[in-house]
Amino acid sequence: MGSGLASLVVTRVFSGIKPTGPVQLGNLLGALRTWVDDQHRADSTFCVVDLHALTVPQDPAVLRAATTELAQLLLAVGIDPTVSTLFVQSDVREHTELSWILECTAAFGELRRMTQFKDKSTDATFVSAGLFTYPALMAADILLYDTDEVPVGDDQRQHLELTRDLAERFNSRYGPTFVVPKATVPTVAARVMDLADPTRKMSKSEDSPQGTVLVLDDLDDVTRKIRRAVTDTDNEVRFDPSAKPGVSNLLAILSACTGDAPETLADRYTQYGPLKADTADAVVEYLRPIQQRYAEFAEDPSGTRSILLAGADKARALAEPKMHQVRSRLGLPTD
Ligand code: AMP
Ligand code: TRP
Repeated sequence: MGSGLASLVVTRVFSGIKPTGPVQLGNLLGALRTWVDDQHRADSTFCVVDLHALTVPQDPAVLRAATTELAQLLLAVGIDPTVSTLFVQSDVREHTELSWILECTAAFGELRRMTQFKDKSTDATFVSAGLFTYPALMAADILLYDTDEVPVGDDQRQHLELTRDLAERFNSRYGPTFVVPKATVPTVAARVMDLADPTRKMSKSEDSPQGTVLVLDDLDDVTRKIRRAVTDTDNEVRFDPSAKPGVSNLLAILSACTGDAPETLADRYTQYGPLKADTADAVVEYLRPIQQRYAEFAEDPSGTRSILLAGADKARALAEPKMHQVRSRLGLPTD
């Protein structure tokens, strides 16, 4: 609970995901799986962060459709809007307002050190200023809601450290205002690796279709991709991510789907073939009900929009008073 600003009994969880392409197995096992569990033990808010998608030019029709589809996928995965708050970032204007203030709280040098910025800006033909200030908007998302815990994959740790630093800096300059949040990263599958190149992270980008399992992939394709996963030649099943990235990735995926520890699973196999077959089956059975529920939600876009608008109302009820407090701390008008 840290700063003591949050309520004494309720833990608040917040997380977000960008509507920038099909959801892949890494998103599901590294983040969304935890969201679904968290909503039953904490006051949880989940956000489709459409403004974060704008760091690169977007086709408006594609972005609009992707936002709705991602919300439907979150519902299909098990986010329950009667238990948690599900909304679209741009529906709650306080996010952009607080983002500016946090841009003025962040140092140029600390934003420049963000590895995600370095990865995405190197070799890019156009680097928007928004790509650079992206972590300030992410910090705004989190800090508006007195968030204690942020369930994310391993790649977001650095952004969470920055969010903590910004909260602490603002609090010490202007008085206690923000809860200082922490990242909650799963113990297995926090970094699901590409099946065709297990030294790189699985991602939504389209340059490794055989290495990426999409949550809405045809289930036969899912089986094929996992059975063809790159491993190594020494034929020993052992959980050792640095020495055996391919085999360890399969064990981590199987572990996330079954709940058994990767080391325990490793003891059950002497060959790669059965490990791949069982991992493929486990992933297929994990995805099958999600795909079925997605098909149902996809038939009702106006129902989805109603859920998101109701979620935005609930989010705004927290964001508005927080922003009022921030404005007051800073000497901006509040009347
Ligand atoms: P994004 O799609 O970048 O908005 O990411 C949404 C969430 O999925 C974040 O919490 C990421 O950390 C997580 N995530 C993305 N890729 C992976 C991966 N390969 N393994 C584990 N978690 C991931
Ligand atoms: N930056 C995150 C990602 O790339 C997405 C995100 C935006 C987020 N705002 C957030 C995650 C707030 C957690 C909390 O995955």
